[in-house]
Amino acid sequence: MSAELDPRLLTRAREVVSSITGFRDDAIANEAMERVVRGELARGRSSADLLGEMLFPQSTLSGTLVRAALVGETYFFRQPEHFRYLSQVGVPAALRRGSLALRGWSAGCATGEEAYSLAAALQASVPHGFPVEVLGTDLHEASLETARRASYGTWSRRESAPRLFPLYLDGVDRQVTILPVVRRITSFAQSNLLAPLPERFGRFDFIFCRNVLTYFSLSAREAAIALLARALNPGGLLFLGAVEADRVPAGMVREGTPELQTFRLLGPGESASPTPVPRFVERAAPPAPLIRRPMATPVPVRAQVTPPPPPARLHLEALERIEGGDVDGASAVLESLVRQAPDYLPGLLELALLRERSGAREAAVPLMRALRMRAERLPPDQLVDGPEALPARFYQASADAYLNLGALE
Ligand SMILES: C[S@@+](CC[C@H](N)C(=O)[O-])C[C@H]1O[C@@H](n2cnc3c(N)ncnc32)[C@H](O)[C@@H]1O
Repeated sequence: MSAELDPRLLTRAREVVSSITGFRDDAIANEAMERVVRGELARGRSSADLLGEMLFPQSTLSGTLVRAALVGETYFFRQPEHFRYLSQVGVPAALRRGSLALRGWSAGCATGEEAYSLAAALQASVPHGFPVEVLGTDLHEASLETARRASYGTWSRRESAPRLFPLYLDGVDRQVTILPVVRRITSFAQSNLLAPLPERFGRFDFIFCRNVLTYFSLSAREAAIALLARALNPGGLLFLGAVEADRVPAGMVREGTPELQTFRLLGPGESASPTPVPRFVERAAPPAPLIRRPMATPVPVRAQVTPPPPPARLHLEALERIEGGDVDGASAVLESLVRQAPDYLPGLLELALLRERSGAREAAVPLMRALRMRAERLPPDQLVDGPEALPARFYQASADAYLNLGALE
Protein backbone atom coordinates (compact mmCIF):
# COMPACT_ATOMS: atom_id res chain seq x y z
CA MET A 1 0.00 0.00 0.00
CA SER A 2 1.44 3.38 -0.94
CA ALA A 3 1.40 6.10 1.68
CA GLU A 4 -1.31 8.78 1.64
CA LEU A 5 -0.29 11.95 -0.16
CA ASP A 6 -1.02 15.45 1.05
CA PRO A 7 -3.89 16.26 -1.38
CA ARG A 8 -2.55 19.78 -1.89
CA LEU A 9 0.46 18.32 -3.68
CA LEU A 10 -1.53 16.91 -6.58
CA THR A 11 -3.83 19.93 -6.74
CA ARG A 12 -0.88 22.28 -6.97
CA ALA A 13 0.92 20.02 -9.44
CA ARG A 14 -2.10 20.15 -11.75
CA GLU A 15 -2.39 23.92 -11.36
CA VAL A 16 1.21 24.49 -12.28
CA VAL A 17 0.97 22.23 -15.35
CA SER A 18 -2.25 23.87 -16.45
CA SER A 19 -0.85 27.39 -16.10
CA ILE A 20 2.28 26.57 -18.11
CA THR A 21 0.78 24.42 -20.87
CA GLY A 22 -2.81 25.67 -21.15
CA PHE A 23 -4.08 22.12 -20.49
CA ARG A 24 -7.55 21.57 -19.11
CA ASP A 25 -7.44 20.04 -15.66
CA ASP A 26 -9.02 16.80 -16.87
CA ALA A 27 -6.42 16.44 -19.63
CA ILE A 28 -3.64 16.12 -17.05
CA ALA A 29 -3.11 12.48 -16.11
CA ASN A 30 -3.29 12.10 -12.36
CA GLU A 31 -1.00 9.04 -12.44
CA ALA A 32 1.71 11.12 -14.11
CA MET A 33 1.51 13.85 -11.44
CA GLU A 34 1.50 11.29 -8.67
CA ARG A 35 4.53 9.49 -10.08
CA VAL A 36 6.59 12.70 -10.08
CA VAL A 37 5.47 13.78 -6.63
CA ARG A 38 6.04 10.34 -5.09
CA GLY A 39 9.48 10.20 -6.73
CA GLU A 40 10.45 13.49 -5.06
CA LEU A 41 9.11 12.36 -1.68
CA ALA A 42 11.02 9.08 -1.99
CA ARG A 43 14.20 11.14 -2.32
CA GLY A 44 13.51 12.49 1.14
CA ARG A 45 11.94 15.83 0.26
CA SER A 46 9.08 17.14 2.39
CA SER A 47 5.59 18.05 1.17
CA ALA A 48 6.15 21.65 2.25
CA ASP A 49 9.34 21.82 0.21
CA LEU A 50 7.55 20.52 -2.90
CA LEU A 51 4.58 22.85 -2.43
CA GLY A 52 7.01 25.76 -2.17
CA GLU A 53 8.92 24.80 -5.31
CA MET A 54 5.73 24.41 -7.31
CA LEU A 55 4.96 28.09 -6.75
CA PHE A 56 7.68 28.85 -9.28
CA PRO A 57 6.85 27.91 -12.89
CA GLN A 58 10.55 28.09 -13.81
CA SER A 59 11.57 25.58 -11.13
CA THR A 60 13.01 22.17 -11.91
CA LEU A 61 10.03 20.44 -10.33
CA SER A 62 7.52 22.45 -12.40
CA GLY A 63 9.44 21.48 -15.54
CA THR A 64 9.41 17.80 -14.55
CA LEU A 65 5.66 17.90 -13.94
CA VAL A 66 5.03 19.56 -17.32
CA ARG A 67 7.15 16.98 -19.14
CA ALA A 68 5.26 14.19 -17.39
CA ALA A 69 1.92 15.64 -18.52
CA LEU A 70 2.80 16.16 -22.20
CA VAL A 71 1.62 13.59 -24.71
CA GLY A 72 3.97 13.17 -27.67
CA GLU A 73 2.03 10.70 -29.81
CA THR A 74 2.77 11.39 -33.51
CA TYR A 75 3.67 9.75 -36.82
CA PHE A 76 4.51 10.58 -40.41
CA PHE A 77 1.73 11.93 -42.65
CA ARG A 78 -0.84 11.73 -39.88
CA GLN A 79 -4.17 13.00 -41.22
CA PRO A 80 -3.00 12.62 -44.82
CA GLU A 81 -5.85 14.76 -46.18
CA HIS A 82 -4.07 17.84 -44.84
CA PHE A 83 -0.90 17.08 -46.77
CA ARG A 84 -2.90 16.37 -49.93
CA TYR A 85 -4.77 19.66 -49.58
CA LEU A 86 -1.55 21.53 -48.96
CA SER A 87 0.04 20.05 -52.06
CA GLN A 88 -2.94 20.19 -54.42
CA VAL A 89 -4.57 23.47 -53.35
CA GLY A 90 -2.47 25.41 -50.83
CA VAL A 91 0.87 25.48 -52.65
CA PRO A 92 -0.56 26.26 -56.14
CA ALA A 93 -2.59 29.14 -54.62
CA ALA A 94 0.48 30.55 -52.84
CA LEU A 95 2.50 30.34 -56.07
CA ARG A 96 -0.30 32.13 -57.94
CA ARG A 97 -0.20 34.88 -55.30
CA GLY A 98 3.41 35.41 -56.28
CA SER A 99 5.11 34.06 -53.13
CA LEU A 100 8.87 33.99 -53.61
CA ALA A 101 9.47 31.35 -50.91
CA LEU A 102 7.20 29.09 -48.90
CA ARG A 103 7.48 28.61 -45.15
CA GLY A 104 5.75 26.08 -42.94
CA TRP A 105 5.46 25.76 -39.16
CA SER A 106 4.65 22.58 -37.30
CA ALA A 107 3.46 24.00 -33.97
CA GLY A 108 3.56 21.31 -31.29
CA CYS A 109 5.69 19.04 -33.44
CA ALA A 110 6.61 16.50 -30.72
CA THR A 111 9.45 14.36 -32.10
CA GLY A 112 9.36 15.98 -35.54
CA GLU A 113 7.43 13.55 -37.73
CA GLU A 114 4.87 16.22 -38.64
CA ALA A 115 7.51 18.89 -39.39
CA TYR A 116 9.42 16.54 -41.72
CA SER A 117 6.20 15.37 -43.38
CA LEU A 118 5.29 19.02 -43.98
CA ALA A 119 8.73 19.75 -45.40
CA ALA A 120 8.53 16.72 -47.70
CA ALA A 121 5.06 17.74 -48.91
CA LEU A 122 6.22 21.30 -49.65
CA GLN A 123 9.42 20.14 -51.30
CA ALA A 124 7.53 17.82 -53.62
CA SER A 125 4.93 20.44 -54.53
CA VAL A 126 7.08 23.42 -55.60
CA PRO A 127 9.10 23.84 -58.81
CA HIS A 128 12.66 22.51 -58.59
CA GLY A 129 14.92 24.87 -56.64
CA PHE A 130 12.06 26.97 -55.23
CA PRO A 131 12.96 28.06 -51.66
CA VAL A 132 11.09 26.18 -48.95
CA GLU A 133 11.65 25.92 -45.20
CA VAL A 134 9.89 24.46 -42.19
CA LEU A 135 10.14 25.19 -38.48
CA GLY A 136 9.05 22.66 -35.86
CA THR A 137 8.43 23.89 -32.31
CA ASP A 138 7.45 22.17 -29.10
CA LEU A 139 7.58 22.73 -25.37
CA HIS A 140 9.36 19.43 -24.78
CA GLU A 141 13.10 19.88 -25.38
CA ALA A 142 13.86 16.13 -25.32
CA SER A 143 11.34 15.57 -28.12
CA LEU A 144 13.09 18.25 -30.15
CA GLU A 145 16.43 16.52 -29.64
CA THR A 146 14.90 13.36 -31.09
CA ALA A 147 13.56 15.43 -34.00
CA ARG A 148 17.01 16.86 -34.73
CA ARG A 149 18.50 13.36 -34.89
CA ALA A 150 16.12 12.66 -37.83
CA SER A 151 16.22 8.91 -37.28
CA TYR A 152 12.99 7.03 -36.62
CA GLY A 153 11.72 3.55 -35.84
CA THR A 154 8.62 1.69 -36.87
CA TRP A 155 6.37 3.48 -34.34
CA SER A 156 6.65 6.63 -36.49
CA ARG A 157 5.37 4.85 -39.59
CA ARG A 158 1.77 3.74 -39.34
CA GLU A 159 -0.09 1.68 -41.84
CA SER A 160 -3.05 4.03 -41.42
CA ALA A 161 -0.98 6.93 -42.83
CA PRO A 162 0.40 6.51 -46.36
CA ARG A 163 3.88 7.73 -47.30
CA LEU A 164 2.62 10.51 -49.57
CA PHE A 165 5.91 12.17 -50.56
CA PRO A 166 9.58 11.10 -50.51
CA LEU A 167 10.61 11.48 -46.88
CA TYR A 168 13.14 8.95 -45.64
CA LEU A 169 15.71 6.33 -46.48
CA ASP A 170 15.64 2.84 -45.01
CA GLY A 171 18.51 2.18 -42.60
CA VAL A 172 19.54 -0.70 -40.36
CA ASP A 173 17.32 -2.37 -37.75
CA ARG A 174 14.18 -1.05 -39.40
CA GLN A 175 15.25 2.51 -38.57
CA VAL A 176 14.76 5.16 -41.24
CA THR A 177 16.66 8.41 -41.77
CA ILE A 178 15.08 11.57 -43.09
CA LEU A 179 16.24 12.43 -46.62
CA PRO A 180 19.00 15.06 -46.56
CA VAL A 181 16.97 17.38 -48.86
CA VAL A 182 14.11 17.33 -46.38
CA ARG A 183 16.30 17.58 -43.30
CA ARG A 184 18.25 20.53 -44.70
CA ILE A 185 15.12 22.69 -44.91
CA THR A 186 13.74 21.76 -41.48
CA SER A 187 14.79 23.24 -38.15
CA PHE A 188 13.51 22.98 -34.60
CA ALA A 189 13.16 25.34 -31.65
CA GLN A 190 11.57 25.25 -28.24
CA SER A 191 8.51 27.46 -27.89
CA ASN A 192 5.30 27.59 -25.89
CA LEU A 193 2.09 28.04 -27.88
CA LEU A 194 0.74 30.30 -25.16
CA ALA A 195 3.41 32.91 -25.97
CA PRO A 196 3.99 34.70 -29.29
CA LEU A 197 6.60 33.05 -31.47
CA PRO A 198 9.67 35.34 -31.39
CA GLU A 199 9.80 37.76 -34.33
CA ARG A 200 13.08 36.29 -35.60
CA PHE A 201 11.20 33.24 -36.84
CA GLY A 202 9.21 35.40 -39.27
CA ARG A 203 5.84 34.54 -40.78
CA PHE A 204 4.51 31.41 -42.39
CA ASP A 205 2.39 30.38 -45.35
CA PHE A 206 1.27 27.12 -43.75
CA ILE A 207 0.86 26.32 -40.07
CA PHE A 208 0.03 22.83 -38.83
CA CYS A 209 -1.13 22.70 -35.22
CA ARG A 210 -2.83 19.37 -34.78
CA ASN A 211 -3.60 17.16 -31.81
CA VAL A 212 -2.21 19.81 -29.48
CA LEU A 213 -5.05 22.23 -28.72
CA THR A 214 -7.31 19.29 -27.98
CA TYR A 215 -5.75 19.20 -24.51
CA PHE A 216 -6.18 22.95 -23.92
CA SER A 217 -8.85 24.78 -21.96
CA LEU A 218 -11.20 26.81 -24.14
CA SER A 219 -9.54 30.10 -23.23
CA ALA A 220 -6.01 28.74 -23.78
CA ARG A 221 -7.08 27.30 -27.13
CA GLU A 222 -8.50 30.62 -28.28
CA ALA A 223 -5.39 32.49 -27.16
CA ALA A 224 -3.14 30.02 -28.96
CA ILE A 225 -5.19 30.17 -32.18
CA ALA A 226 -5.02 33.99 -32.15
CA LEU A 227 -1.23 33.80 -31.81
CA LEU A 228 -0.98 31.24 -34.62
CA ALA A 229 -3.07 33.49 -36.89
CA ARG A 230 -0.71 36.37 -36.15
CA ALA A 231 2.19 34.31 -37.44
CA LEU A 232 0.56 33.69 -40.86
CA ASN A 233 1.25 35.61 -44.03
CA PRO A 234 -1.93 37.03 -45.61
CA GLY A 235 -3.57 34.19 -47.54
CA GLY A 236 -1.71 31.63 -45.39
CA LEU A 237 -3.40 28.45 -44.20
CA LEU A 238 -3.86 27.12 -40.67
CA PHE A 239 -4.49 23.38 -40.37
CA LEU A 240 -6.00 22.25 -37.06
CA GLY A 241 -6.86 18.79 -35.75
CA ALA A 242 -10.34 17.31 -36.02
CA VAL A 243 -12.00 18.85 -32.95
CA GLU A 244 -9.70 21.74 -32.22
CA ALA A 245 -11.74 24.74 -33.37
CA ASP A 246 -15.39 25.23 -32.71
CA ARG A 247 -15.65 28.33 -34.86
CA VAL A 248 -13.81 30.08 -37.65
CA PRO A 249 -10.98 32.08 -36.06
CA ALA A 250 -11.20 35.88 -36.30
CA GLY A 251 -9.89 37.31 -39.57
CA MET A 252 -9.98 33.92 -41.28
CA VAL A 253 -12.27 31.95 -43.58
CA ARG A 254 -12.82 28.24 -43.78
CA GLU A 255 -11.11 26.40 -46.64
CA GLY A 256 -12.22 23.04 -48.02
CA THR A 257 -14.76 20.86 -46.26
CA PRO A 258 -15.62 21.47 -42.57
CA GLU A 259 -13.90 18.17 -41.66
CA LEU A 260 -10.62 19.54 -43.01
CA GLN A 261 -10.48 22.12 -40.20
CA THR A 262 -8.40 24.40 -42.40
CA PHE A 263 -8.59 28.19 -42.29
CA ARG A 264 -7.15 30.93 -44.49
CA LEU A 265 -6.01 34.29 -43.18
CA LEU A 266 -7.76 37.03 -45.13
CA GLY A 267 -5.60 39.37 -47.16
CA PRO A 268 -5.72 43.19 -46.80
CA GLY A 269 -9.09 44.53 -47.97
CA GLU A 270 -10.56 41.03 -48.28
CA SER A 271 -13.72 40.43 -46.28
CA ALA A 272 -15.13 37.21 -44.96
CA SER A 273 -18.32 35.81 -46.46
CA PRO A 274 -21.01 35.17 -43.81
CA THR A 275 -19.52 33.07 -41.01
CA PRO A 276 -20.56 29.43 -41.42
CA VAL A 277 -22.60 27.92 -38.61
CA PRO A 278 -20.19 26.49 -35.98
CA ARG A 279 -19.72 22.80 -36.58
CA PHE A 280 -18.67 21.92 -33.09
CA VAL A 281 -20.65 22.94 -30.07
CA GLU A 282 -18.83 24.78 -27.31
CA ARG A 283 -17.42 22.08 -25.15
CA ALA A 284 -14.07 21.12 -23.77
CA ALA A 285 -12.10 19.21 -26.39
CA PRO A 286 -10.83 15.77 -25.41
CA PRO A 287 -7.51 13.97 -25.71
CA ALA A 288 -7.60 12.19 -29.04
CA PRO A 289 -7.96 8.42 -28.92
CA LEU A 290 -5.82 6.53 -31.42
CA ILE A 291 -8.78 4.92 -33.10
CA ARG A 292 -11.35 7.55 -33.83
CA ARG A 293 -15.02 6.95 -33.66
CA PRO A 294 -16.46 6.98 -37.17
CA MET A 295 -18.05 10.33 -38.14
CA ALA A 296 -21.57 10.50 -36.82
CA THR A 297 -23.94 8.86 -39.29
CA PRO A 298 -27.69 8.75 -38.83
CA VAL A 299 -28.53 5.66 -36.79
CA PRO A 300 -30.94 3.47 -38.79
CA VAL A 301 -34.13 2.75 -36.88
CA ARG A 302 -33.27 -0.98 -37.04
CA ALA A 303 -30.07 -0.35 -35.10
CA GLN A 304 -32.11 0.87 -32.15
CA VAL A 305 -33.90 -2.46 -32.04
CA THR A 306 -30.82 -4.67 -32.56
CA PRO A 307 -27.96 -3.30 -30.45
CA PRO A 308 -24.42 -3.69 -31.80
CA PRO A 309 -22.39 -6.59 -30.38
CA PRO A 310 -21.19 -5.88 -26.82
CA PRO A 311 -17.43 -5.41 -27.52
CA ALA A 312 -17.97 -2.66 -30.07
CA ARG A 313 -20.61 -1.04 -27.89
CA LEU A 314 -18.34 -0.99 -24.87
CA HIS A 315 -15.48 0.27 -26.99
CA LEU A 316 -17.60 3.17 -28.27
CA GLU A 317 -18.63 3.95 -24.72
CA ALA A 318 -14.96 4.08 -23.71
CA LEU A 319 -14.15 6.36 -26.65
CA GLU A 320 -16.99 8.65 -25.68
CA ARG A 321 -15.61 8.81 -22.16
CA ILE A 322 -12.12 9.59 -23.46
CA GLU A 323 -13.58 12.32 -25.63
CA GLY A 324 -15.42 13.69 -22.62
CA GLY A 325 -12.17 13.73 -20.64
CA ASP A 326 -13.27 10.90 -18.30
CA VAL A 327 -10.05 8.89 -18.47
CA ASP A 328 -10.75 6.87 -15.31
CA GLY A 329 -14.22 5.91 -16.54
CA ALA A 330 -12.83 4.95 -19.96
CA SER A 331 -10.19 2.85 -18.28
CA ALA A 332 -12.80 0.95 -16.23
CA VAL A 333 -14.93 0.29 -19.32
CA LEU A 334 -11.93 -0.92 -21.33
CA GLU A 335 -10.77 -3.19 -18.51
CA SER A 336 -14.17 -4.81 -18.38
CA LEU A 337 -14.18 -5.07 -22.19
CA VAL A 338 -10.81 -6.82 -22.22
CA ARG A 339 -11.96 -9.22 -19.49
CA GLN A 340 -15.18 -10.04 -21.31
CA ALA A 341 -13.78 -10.19 -24.84
CA PRO A 342 -10.03 -10.89 -24.70
CA ASP A 343 -9.98 -11.60 -28.46
CA TYR A 344 -11.37 -8.18 -29.36
CA LEU A 345 -8.12 -6.67 -30.67
CA PRO A 346 -9.21 -3.00 -30.82
CA GLY A 347 -10.04 -3.13 -27.10
CA LEU A 348 -6.62 -4.48 -26.19
CA LEU A 349 -4.91 -1.79 -28.25
CA GLU A 350 -7.09 1.00 -26.88
CA LEU A 351 -6.45 0.00 -23.28
CA ALA A 352 -2.72 -0.41 -23.91
CA LEU A 353 -2.54 3.07 -25.42
CA LEU A 354 -4.55 4.55 -22.60
CA ARG A 355 -2.06 3.04 -20.16
CA GLU A 356 0.88 4.32 -22.20
CA ARG A 357 -0.58 7.82 -22.39
CA SER A 358 -0.99 7.78 -18.60
CA GLY A 359 2.67 6.89 -18.22
CA ALA A 360 1.98 3.29 -17.06
CA ARG A 361 4.21 1.48 -19.53
CA GLU A 362 4.50 -1.55 -17.24
CA ALA A 363 0.73 -2.03 -17.61
CA ALA A 364 0.78 -1.37 -21.37
CA VAL A 365 3.44 -3.95 -22.24
CA PRO A 366 1.49 -7.13 -21.27
CA LEU A 367 -1.53 -5.80 -23.16
CA MET A 368 0.58 -5.20 -26.26
CA ARG A 369 2.01 -8.72 -25.89
CA ALA A 370 -1.50 -10.18 -25.70
CA LEU A 371 -2.46 -8.10 -28.72
CA ARG A 372 0.46 -9.40 -30.74
CA MET A 373 -0.19 -13.01 -29.76
CA ARG A 374 -3.84 -12.82 -30.74
CA ALA A 375 -3.24 -10.83 -33.93
CA GLU A 376 -0.61 -13.37 -35.06
CA ARG A 377 -3.24 -16.10 -35.01
CA LEU A 378 -5.33 -14.33 -37.67
CA PRO A 379 -4.63 -14.13 -41.42
CA PRO A 380 -2.81 -10.77 -41.81
CA ASP A 381 -5.41 -9.32 -44.21
CA GLN A 382 -8.43 -10.40 -42.23
CA LEU A 383 -10.47 -7.34 -41.33
CA VAL A 384 -11.07 -7.01 -37.62
CA ASP A 385 -14.33 -5.40 -36.57
CA GLY A 386 -14.15 -2.35 -34.38
CA PRO A 387 -14.91 1.37 -34.67
CA GLU A 388 -12.80 1.15 -37.84
CA ALA A 389 -12.42 -2.16 -39.70
CA LEU A 390 -8.65 -2.64 -39.87
CA PRO A 391 -6.64 -5.69 -40.99
CA ALA A 392 -5.10 -7.99 -38.39
CA ARG A 393 -1.63 -6.96 -39.59
CA PHE A 394 -2.35 -3.39 -38.41
CA TYR A 395 -2.74 -4.68 -34.85
CA GLN A 396 0.29 -6.92 -35.11
CA ALA A 397 2.40 -4.06 -36.52
CA SER A 398 1.20 -1.67 -33.80
CA ALA A 399 2.11 -4.15 -31.05
CA ASP A 400 5.45 -5.01 -32.68
CA ALA A 401 6.36 -1.37 -33.07
CA TYR A 402 5.48 -0.62 -29.46
CA LEU A 403 7.32 -3.62 -28.02
CA ASN A 404 10.41 -3.02 -30.19
CA LEU A 405 10.44 0.60 -29.15
CA GLY A 406 10.45 -0.47 -25.49
CA ALA A 407 13.35 -2.81 -26.17
CA LEU A 408 15.41 0.01 -27.66
CA GLU A 409 15.04 2.24 -24.62
C1 LIG B 1 0.06 14.68 -29.42
S1 LIG B 1 1.47 15.60 -29.86
C2 LIG B 1 1.03 16.07 -31.51
C3 LIG B 1 2.19 16.03 -32.46
C4 LIG B 1 1.84 16.40 -33.88
N1 LIG B 1 1.36 17.76 -33.98
C5 LIG B 1 0.85 15.45 -34.47
O1 LIG B 1 -0.30 15.82 -34.70
O2 LIG B 1 1.21 14.30 -34.73
C6 LIG B 1 1.24 17.11 -28.93
C7 LIG B 1 2.51 17.91 -28.74
O3 LIG B 1 2.15 19.22 -28.31
C8 LIG B 1 3.12 19.67 -27.40
N2 LIG B 1 2.55 20.73 -26.56
C9 LIG B 1 1.57 20.61 -25.64
N3 LIG B 1 1.33 21.80 -25.07
C10 LIG B 1 2.15 22.69 -25.65
C11 LIG B 1 2.36 24.08 -25.50
N4 LIG B 1 1.68 24.81 -24.61
N5 LIG B 1 3.31 24.67 -26.27
C12 LIG B 1 4.02 23.95 -27.17
N6 LIG B 1 3.87 22.63 -27.35
C13 LIG B 1 2.95 22.00 -26.61
C14 LIG B 1 3.48 18.41 -26.61
O4 LIG B 1 4.75 18.52 -26.01
C15 LIG B 1 3.43 17.33 -27.70
O5 LIG B 1 4.70 17.10 -28.22
